[in-house]
Amino acid sequence: MKYDMIASGVKYIGVDDLDIDLFEGQYEVPLGVSYNSYLIDDEKVAIMDTVDATKAEEWAKNLEAALGGKTPDYLIVQHLEPDHGGSVQYIMEKYPNMTAVCSQKAVAMFKRFFDADFSSRIQVVKEGETLSLGEHTLQFFMAPMVHWPEVMVTYEQTTKILFAADGFGKFGALCKEEEDTEGWACEARRYYFNIVGKYGAMVQCLLKKAATLDIQQICPLHGPVLSENLGYYIGLYDTWSKYEPEDKGIFIAYCSLHGNTAQAALKLADIIREKSDVKVATSDIARDDLHEAVEDAFRYDRMVLCAPTYDGDIMPIMGDFINLLRIKTYQNRKVAFVENGTWAPAAGKKMREQMEAMKNITIVEPLVTIESTVKAKTIADLTVLAEALTADK
Ligand code: FEO
Repeated sequence: MKYDMIASGVKYIGVDDLDIDLFEGQYEVPLGVSYNSYLIDDEKVAIMDTVDATKAEEWAKNLEAALGGKTPDYLIVQHLEPDHGGSVQYIMEKYPNMTAVCSQKAVAMFKRFFDADFSSRIQVVKEGETLSLGEHTLQFFMAPMVHWPEVMVTYEQTTKILFAADGFGKFGALCKEEEDTEGWACEARRYYFNIVGKYGAMVQCLLKKAATLDIQQICPLHGPVLSENLGYYIGLYDTWSKYEPEDKGIFIAYCSLHGNTAQAALKLADIIREKSDVKVATSDIARDDLHEAVEDAFRYDRMVLCAPTYDGDIMPIMGDFINLLRIKTYQNRKVAFVENGTWAPAAGKKMREQMEAMKNITIVEPLVTIESTVKAKTIADLTVLAEALTADK
């Protein structure tokens, strides 16, 4: 385990999952993922969340070792999504005198997830309510839709730890942290925008509650415990949840049937780099991780979508990408388009219609139309677009 003692009386008992192929059945996790769980060892003993059912036995061993012969009194259920609630039934049956502590909204979910009636063993807590364990006192704050409706977070008043549920989570197993050389923000950002990104207003609400607390450590349900420079992490969450760009720069997302649209997209990137010092990132969305493209779309203040026309519409993978952006409530950005078409180019108009339906999108002209292959006129048109995109750095 990466951590033993996190703070006085608080132990890490979570597990790494390196066997998972796709998180939530859709997100690539090349370095796995961690399901964090914690034990607070006091006069009363509390377990903070469980783990995915596939790792129940490994987790139970960590729990037993941390308990040192004691019996847990409380299971604090902050979030019932199966990556955290998947071992609730198992552990409730193993410790029949243990009480589950959760929000009112979680109660109905217990019945939906578990083939057992735990209703007499559930203690519902409300906003701001406290639960004394002895030296430690837990205080609960509701965090609906960060990232499910039943979510709550927990502040431990003595150690000043915020148990943040999915908040401040990051992809990557803890045993692989050293292999993740890009730093916390990269995989935390991909996690945030794809999983919690739709709920920025609710994250803002939670950040306002957190601002009233003296927080010394953040213990999320995925990824490393955050112990230093908390302002950095909280600042990024503030930016992300306000849908503000984190960086000035241009993200070029492209797809290509026969390589011509890709050639134009990469040429546009070259022209921008030659003419300015504006940062440029590119993604071939048919080959690169589409969810990383979502992350980059939110990261930068400008985006160019480059796609061929296909069956009188947009090449489908670009349609999928735009739909993902819509679902994640992409907004407040400048967007430009490059289309390709041999007889009836339509992708530019279609992409524009879909992007204009999103909130506060500014279209950057001109629309560049590639007539099948990149020629001198295409490069001239791309140069005009590059100038428009970089006019205001
Ligand atoms: Fe990590 Fe929303 O579950």
